[in-house]
Amino acid sequence: MFKNIEKIFKETYQKDYKKFFSPGRVNLIGEHTDYNGGHVFPCTISLGTYGVANLNEGNYIRCYSMNFKEFGFIQVDLEDLSFQESHNWVNFVKGVILQFEKRGYKLHTGFDLVIEGNIPGGGLSSSSSLELLTSVMLKSLYNFDIDRLEMVKLSQAVENEYMGVNSGIMDQFIIGMGKEDHGILLDTNTLKYEYVPLILKDYVILIGNTNKKRTLADSKYNERYNECQSALKELKKHLDIKSLGDLSIEAFETHKVYIENEILKKRAKHAVYENQRTIQSLVALKNGDLTKFGELMYASHASLKEDYEVSCFELDVMVDLMSKSQGVIGSRMTGAGFGGCTVSIVEKNRVDEIIRSVYKDYLKIVGYSGDFHVVEIGPGALEIVK
Ligand code: GLA
Repeated sequence: MFKNIEKIFKETYQKDYKKFFSPGRVNLIGEHTDYNGGHVFPCTISLGTYGVANLNEGNYIRCYSMNFKEFGFIQVDLEDLSFQESHNWVNFVKGVILQFEKRGYKLHTGFDLVIEGNIPGGGLSSSSSLELLTSVMLKSLYNFDIDRLEMVKLSQAVENEYMGVNSGIMDQFIIGMGKEDHGILLDTNTLKYEYVPLILKDYVILIGNTNKKRTLADSKYNERYNECQSALKELKKHLDIKSLGDLSIEAFETHKVYIENEILKKRAKHAVYENQRTIQSLVALKNGDLTKFGELMYASHASLKEDYEVSCFELDVMVDLMSKSQGVIGSRMTGAGFGGCTVSIVEKNRVDEIIRSVYKDYLKIVGYSGDFHVVEIGPGALEIVK
């Protein structure tokens, strides 16, 4: 993946460069819990964003993406890093620079950056991948003394403050902290986390991309965030809690009467139950009980579909087809929803046959094709030492 971008960088700038990689992520379970103080259980994927970069002598940055060739080289003055529609993907880069500067890490000169990504479709966090790529790059090019967790937090702040999406910390955390062949169980309330080995013996993790565009995903996402905040506000009048993630299922069932609005009640129910499912999924995995893990994945999807209402026809079709295939023990939508990807646990020996048959039936029902990727879990964002 570096070949093309190295060539472009060398031809355009005739100077040396540093190389960086930042992965995408898939969430195994724990969806829409991270802004509710709950647990999440994601892992990195070996697909991601590749970048080569070096300092320049101007007061500007010049950025080029092989994925957005139509934008050409985008040049931005470091004096004006405000959001500009026409800067497209470079807005994420600018957002990260602003967050560094806010923390006192000033850029004394500009840089040149060329990137290429191979994260398929929506829902596998290509934007967080770019944020962490930029963070790791800035740290290296400018010798900033900043630790990983701070880079994770500032990348999340780009979404919250610059892009206007109230997203939680899951994506940036796993992309910044991920480790080969491991998932991370993260408590988003305390940021305590545990690396969990994900060598599943006879099984593999399979991503199914519905190729359904995620229209209005950001506004719907913020709507869910606000609904959960409203439900929490009602509960707080009667309970000493900081977030929905503080509630056990029993406590929720006892106190849910205080949430009058039925829609808000369903949203809160998802947040509470999904958090508990995520904690249980780790126990199942540690006990080697993949069947239980799979059941929790199906329950997660049902809850995202019915109570949280962030699934869609295409995701439901794909999960349904997976659930009817021999050799699939669990399947669900992954990420924010409203399109994007599914994640399934699938018998290794049958994976080709499963992909073939789900591909065919999905095409027949939906009218266009999905695509499929067996997950390999690689490292978190890093500089590749040449
Ligand atoms: C998006 C957000 C995450 C998380 C998921 C849903 O990926 O960026 O913070 O909320 O949706 O679980």
